[in-house]
Amino acid sequence: MKFVASFCLTSMLAFSALAHEAHSEVKPEDAKDYRQGVFQTLKWNIGGLVAMAKNPDIFDKDHANLLAQRLHLSGGMILEGFTDDSDMVQGSDAKLEIWDDRPGFEAAVNNYLEKAGLLVDAVAKAESPAAYMEQVKELGGSCKACHKKYRN
Ligand code: HEC
Repeated sequence: MKFVASFCLTSMLAFSALAHEAHSEVKPEDAKDYRQGVFQTLKWNIGGLVAMAKNPDIFDKDHANLLAQRLHLSGGMILEGFTDDSDMVQGSDAKLEIWDDRPGFEAAVNNYLEKAGLLVDAVAKAESPAAYMEQVKELGGSCKACHKKYRN
């Protein structure tokens, strides 16, 4: 038992070291493209929920659940894109405050994730888009709050 546990721990450590290594080799341009792609994903998915609210005839509960879950899941992908040396990369709108105030930026991500989690719950219970729109607005507020502080 003890052997198995320590073997697992060793391989986990080796794996996370590898993952870290792989990421430290990421080019700044690739990190920028990745994070902008994640943000485009957020825009796409929140846009789908708003579109159903504007035109309730196209409301599809399964699809709405999927969009909300994607919004939650992709929020967890934001931080990875802000690698140490991608602060000065061309074509980015990210403010240097992200690198100077990492705890503040992480708090903005956590605020987003909390609101996205509440949206997942709201959509799961909703029988119409009207029932989840309040939570979509809350989530949109967390996008705007972060942009105000950390995006040019
Ligand atoms: C924790 C901070 C944060 C949150 C939360 C956040 N954003 Fe952003 N967003 C940024 C930053 C920083 C950039 C600039 C990234 C860059 O250009 O390197 C950005 C860029 C963007 C872009 C432009 C991407 C591109 O192609 O250049 C879009 C669109 C966007 N965000 C939409 C959203 C939407 C919609 C939400 C919420 C559903 C959201 N963002 C939540 C920080 C955030």
